[in-house]
Amino acid sequence: MDEEILQLLREHSSTSFSGEEISRRLKVSRTAVWKRVQRLRTLGYEIEASTRSGYRLIGSPDLLTPSEIKPILETKWMGRTIHHFHTLDSTNSKAYQLALNGAEEGEVVISESQEMGRGRLGRQWFSPPFLNLYLSVILRPNISPHQASLITLMAAVAAADAVREFSGLLPLIKWPNDILLRGRKVAGLLNEIHSEMDRIHFVILGIGVNLNIDEKTFSKEIQAVATSMKIEMGQAISRKAFLRSLMQGLERWYSIFLEEGDAVILKAWRDRAQIKGRRVKVTSFGETLAGTAIDVDSDGALILETEDGKRRRVVAGDVQYKR
Ligand code: BTN
Repeated sequence: MDEEILQLLREHSSTSFSGEEISRRLKVSRTAVWKRVQRLRTLGYEIEASTRSGYRLIGSPDLLTPSEIKPILETKWMGRTIHHFHTLDSTNSKAYQLALNGAEEGEVVISESQEMGRGRLGRQWFSPPFLNLYLSVILRPNISPHQASLITLMAAVAAADAVREFSGLLPLIKWPNDILLRGRKVAGLLNEIHSEMDRIHFVILGIGVNLNIDEKTFSKEIQAVATSMKIEMGQAISRKAFLRSLMQGLERWYSIFLEEGDAVILKAWRDRAQIKGRRVKVTSFGETLAGTAIDVDSDGALILETEDGKRRRVVAGDVQYKR
């Protein structure tokens, strides 16, 4: 009902809308309307109320609800269905469930906070409310499972572009899909696939972006390695506007991937990762390798030349850059 009241108030934002009219249209009592208005105020909506003329919406919070997002989205199909939550264990887990139950390509799960936000390699993703972006997109590409990592690279490119557009700074992608600003992580991706041997059923594209979180809100350990757009730019940014740009970029890069194939994505990723020739330390399945990064291959694996001159192919792990 919150969404319906907001929609009515938005449609009549220049004048007041009487409580009686709202209760008639929504087929609920005037007391129920009043209670809902009170609830919306606690969520940050500024609603003027007068006994004579009714209710008028004069300000909206920076929430990521469908009614806030849909009017500003510029995508053709991505994010046209948004599942919004105030809190969830993880948007990826929710999206996975929805996809198993038949949710369509392009449906998006957004939560204002996550209680068990998941990162790569079994880590946690710090997800306090209202500050950042936590979303998962359901994709159903008609590709074979070995191409799935290209979807991850494609999403990293889209995320890096949104960070660049809003910060005016040049982000770096750290293999496979961390987005760094001045050497610290501002965004991360966790992509999960559900497939058979030769067919993907769906991919869940999980994206977390630190937008307005302050340094002191991070724990000491996270502070050393993470940053946010606000920390880097010295000012808060609109989560809605960032989301709009990210969704548009994702839709665009995903169609490029489907229409033009792997090579274009690999090139875009390489341009933004500048990995060739970097001295790196890689931890992969309990093993630590040191060497020089040569490239990523067409499956998204990192090709490394170790100090004894041997080439190694790393499919998963953690990279540290050495000076
Ligand atoms: C990483 O860099 O380790 C990946 C972090 C991914 C975090 C996002 S937040 C939205 C989505 N839901 C999750 O539980 N994780 C991803």
